[in-house]
Amino acid sequence: MTASDTSNATTPNDTFPAKGDIGEMYVTEEQIKNRVRELGAQIAADCDGRVPLLVAILKGSVIFAADLMRAIAGPVEIDFMAVSSYGDATESSGVVKIVKDLDSTVFGRDVILIEDIIDSGLTMAYLVDHLAGQQPASLKTCSLLVREGQQAPDYEVDYVGFEIPPAFVVGYGLDVAQRYRNLPYIAAYTG
Ligand code: IMP
Ligand code: MG
Repeated sequence: MTASDTSNATTPNDTFPAKGDIGEMYVTEEQIKNRVRELGAQIAADCDGRVPLLVAILKGSVIFAADLMRAIAGPVEIDFMAVSSYGDATESSGVVKIVKDLDSTVFGRDVILIEDIIDSGLTMAYLVDHLAGQQPASLKTCSLLVREGQQAPDYEVDYVGFEIPPAFVVGYGLDVAQRYRNLPYIAAYTG
């Protein structure tokens, strides 16, 4: 490794990803990098000197949130919540349960909820409702991915990374049964 080699991307080899598991590439590593930089600049500008509290939803948004917070040129705090909605299935159970709550106080804060993907919108709708009840100064939503043609939820997604087609996707934090979060790109899961 040289000093200029800052990439930690997983290099595909004969066994990883497993043959037949990964289909069409939707978002490349380069596209993610560029978009995260843009979103970070936009959030920094919108914050206008106020210190946002990023609330990253475990586990899917961890990689996105880690990159996004480093793309915000200014003071920023991060906290985590875990919810269960899908289990290990690839379809929503429609049930959202808080598995880990925040350590931080939301009251009076400028909160930005960070999700990996908005599919049915159920998870985000639940969290928006839950946090709004704690009287933040402001509450915004940010999702790396939004599925095309999703039903318009009754909240607005303020910051969207990419729209993707209806296929189940993995990579850059998104998993299937906890695997493939470490892929540096976002692609269809075909396993
Ligand atoms: P929603 O509640 O239907 O909007 O689902 C959102 C949650 O489902 C996300 O936080 C993901 O954890 C999971 N999810 C939805 N679609 C995918 C996918 O294509 N790949 C991996 N996880 C997904
Ligand atoms: Mg998941």
